[in-house]
Amino acid sequence: MNVIDDAVLRREWVVALPSAQVNETPKHINLFGEPVVLWRSEGTALACRDLCVHRGAALSLGCVRDGALVCPYHGWVYAADGTCIDIPQLQPGTPITKKARLTSFGCTEAHGFVWVNLDAPQTPMFPLEGTSDTNGHHVIWGPRKAKAKPPRIIENFLDVGHLAILHDGFLGSSEQPYIPQYQVHRTATGYSSDEIHVFQPNADGAGRPGMVSYTYDMIRPLTVKFLKRDISTGRQMSIVLTVRPENTSESTVYGLMSFDYDTGLEDTELIAFQDRIFDQDLPIIESQKPEDLLLDLQLELSLQCDRVSIAYRQYLRELGVTFGVV
Ligand code: FES
Ligand SMILES: [Fe+2]
Repeated sequence: MNVIDDAVLRREWVVALPSAQVNETPKHINLFGEPVVLWRSEGTALACRDLCVHRGAALSLGCVRDGALVCPYHGWVYAADGTCIDIPQLQPGTPITKKARLTSFGCTEAHGFVWVNLDAPQTPMFPLEGTSDTNGHHVIWGPRKAKAKPPRIIENFLDVGHLAILHDGFLGSSEQPYIPQYQVHRTATGYSSDEIHVFQPNADGAGRPGMVSYTYDMIRPLTVKFLKRDISTGRQMSIVLTVRPENTSESTVYGLMSFDYDTGLEDTELIAFQDRIFDQDLPIIESQKPEDLLLDLQLELSLQCDRVSIAYRQYLRELGVTFGVV
C-alpha cells in the first residue's frame, strides 16, 4: 500500500466526505494510503481504520447496528470508541480481549464536510471565515479525482495567470491576459494576496461578463480559498478548495462554493460550471512534470503574477511538508 508518511500533513484535518454522505451505511475512503471507514453512531460521525482486527476484512462492507459497527465476515461488533463488544463465536459472557479494538482516527464535522485527522486528533478544526460561517448560499462541489498530488492541484487553483488562457471565454479573455501588480502578505495561517483584478466573460456560470477581483488565501496546506468580488456590483462569491491525498499518486478534490447573492442558477448548474472549469484544468494538472512542486524557485521560471504560487511553495516549506514537493 502506498502509505504517505508526511508527519506534517498527517497531523492536518483532511476532508473525508460531505456530511450528508456519512450515515449508518459505512463508507470507505483512502487517506494517505490508509483505508478508512466512516460511519455515524447516534448522530456522531466516526472514523477508524477500515480493517477488522480478526481477519482483516473491510468494515465498510459491514453495517451499523445500534450505533455499533458490525464486521460483515464473522460479525464482530465494534463500539463507537473502537472496542470490540461482541464476538458471536464466543460463548455468551466470555470476556473479550482488550486487544480486540480498532484504530480510531480524529473525526469532526465542519463547513458541510466530515474531516479526518490521523495523527493529531486533538487539534482544533480550522475556521473558514467569510464562507460557510456567514450567511449566503453554499454549494458543495465534488468529489473530483485527479492523478496528481495535492500541491500541484492547489497551486493550479491559486494560479491567476492561466484564467485568461486555459479558461478563455469563461474565467478570462485571451485578449486581456495582463495581470496587474499585486503583493502577498503573511497572515495568521498562511499567505493571502491583494485584490487582483481580472476581466471575466462568465464569472460564475450565469454568463454575466464583468471585472472581478480575486483575493487568494492559504488556510492550511491542503485547504485554500479565493474570494471573488464583482467590481461593479460588489457581489461576492468564494470557493474553498480542499484536497485529500488518497495515496502517493491520486487525490480527491472538493470545493465549498459560497455566494452572497442569487446567481439565478440551480445548484446543479453551478456544480456543472465548476466541473467544466475543472475539466479544463485536470489534463494540465495531470501532465505537469515533475509531479512534485519544486520548492527551489530557481528550477522553474516564475513571473511577478505567480506570486501567489510562490507564496504557497514558501508556505509548504515553512510548514515542513514533504509529500508532493521536492
Ligand atoms: S474478519 Fe471481521 S469478524 Fe472476522
Ligand atoms: Fe483553472
